[in-house]
Amino acid sequence: MTDLENSDRMGSTPDDDARVQDQIYTSQYNRLLLRSTTPKKVMVLDTTLRDGEQTPGVALSVEDKVKIAIALSELGVDVIEAGFPMSSEGEKESIRKIKEQGLNARICGLARSSRSDVDAALACNLDYVHTFIATSDLHLKHKLNMTREQVKSKAVDAIEYAKAHGMTVEFSCEDGTRTDLDFLKEMHIAVQEAKVDKINLPDTVGTMSPAAMEYLVTELMPVTKVPLSVHCHNDFGLAVANSLTAVRCGAQQVHVCMNGLGERCGNAALEEMAMGLLAFFGTTTNINTQRLGYTSKLVSRLTGVPIPDNKPMVGNHAFAHESGIHVHGVLKNPATYEAFSPELVGMTRNIVVGKHTGAHSVKEKLSKYGVALTDEQVADVVDKVKRLAASGKEVDDAELVALASHVFGKGIREQKKIRLKEFTVFTGLNITPTSTVAVEIDGVLKRSSSIGIGPVDAAINAIKAAVSDEITLTEYRLSAITGGSDALCEVSVKLQLNGSDIMSVGKSIGSDIVLTSVDAAIEAVDRLYTRKNA
Ligand code: KIV
Ligand code: ZN
Repeated sequence: MTDLENSDRMGSTPDDDARVQDQIYTSQYNRLLLRSTTPKKVMVLDTTLRDGEQTPGVALSVEDKVKIAIALSELGVDVIEAGFPMSSEGEKESIRKIKEQGLNARICGLARSSRSDVDAALACNLDYVHTFIATSDLHLKHKLNMTREQVKSKAVDAIEYAKAHGMTVEFSCEDGTRTDLDFLKEMHIAVQEAKVDKINLPDTVGTMSPAAMEYLVTELMPVTKVPLSVHCHNDFGLAVANSLTAVRCGAQQVHVCMNGLGERCGNAALEEMAMGLLAFFGTTTNINTQRLGYTSKLVSRLTGVPIPDNKPMVGNHAFAHESGIHVHGVLKNPATYEAFSPELVGMTRNIVVGKHTGAHSVKEKLSKYGVALTDEQVADVVDKVKRLAASGKEVDDAELVALASHVFGKGIREQKKIRLKEFTVFTGLNITPTSTVAVEIDGVLKRSSSIGIGPVDAAINAIKAAVSDEITLTEYRLSAITGGSDALCEVSVKLQLNGSDIMSVGKSIGSDIVLTSVDAAIEAVDRLYTRKNA
């Protein structure tokens, strides 16, 4: 193992590792084909800010890049490829800013195999550069118009130049997986003689199958004495499978992007790699997997690329169960229908109420909101839910509670104990959104104010501050019901009493997003308060 990045930053103990493995329920056959060269631990180079930013439509501001770099470092990636310094002055500025943060992760810049590109990386104060040059005959003939010898000497010259400036150098044969094998080996040998620190194998156009990757990595390992890395694109949906295969055959580093961002169909997804390595091989990384959900959402928000509901690990449906049979199984033992525990990736299990719902789901859901029904009553609610869902309507928690309360009237919610008396919010350009509320709690007036990252956040924070600081907002959903700028919106707010599984929901419909959110929040707070003091 290299001494470059792989110090045990998370400080996980064998006990921690055993606890994690106890929450992974993957097939027993995965470990059968491991090799003696399969590493126990691999390095993670994240290229969300470089290859990921090449995702069509993504253009990040300097501030957003810094935020993502901080989050990636806190997540535990070993190396952040922060950009391509030679590409623009703006790019240089963002890389410099990221480098200035003094993060735990090493910061690297991409450079073509030329002294001027290495100089651009040095101008960003970088001490780690990733140089590359294409080596497939296809690229040599149609893109570079160079001979193999010319390519080799350019690669070697740039590496020697960067090494002479004290840099750590990682080198890639671009389109490596379509390069003649003898020439690829020749390149690996030549760059090692130039004292390269790591060699990366890019599957630039994502054209490998796992079996081909097994062959190629097995061929390259004997001539590659420095750590071998892989950089797999997802054109056939195999980036993660190919990267896992490369590691199984001895690769010690993987290039990844958060949420699988990257050129065309993207790169291997960080979250899938980290969990795949752990689950299939027991191979660890420095990634704190419990931060995956949060980091994924942050990157999605800042890049504007939504996370598909069915995205493994971090999608809304990754731990959602609707069918009666599945819910029944999962409630008895999560391993029946989950590959690993959602907590491992910072997500939560979600029992969805819909067309395939059974009594167990409804009972379990309602009990979380303090609603206890007889089996007969539950059956009645299930029937109503199914009829609603069959007509294409999704039944969320607030609607389920409302349905139960309408059907069975009492025992769910009596008189309101919390009423909103006054509410203001200030927001605008270059000011911190601030909200003030006056709330009547059991007849006593309480005032409070708070700030937030937006007017809704400020308002909800002010309400929480007035009522109780023991409340956590676990879900906020906003959807437009009608189109146009005067559209009606629907807001649902889910709250939890800290340190308990007592939850509540509130829902409201209106034309003003902030006021509608406040209405929903007050309803949820009132329900939670009533339950807490029941
Ligand atoms: O896909 C690729 O080949 C790359 C290189 C720059 C490593 O992104
Ligand atoms: Zn790439």
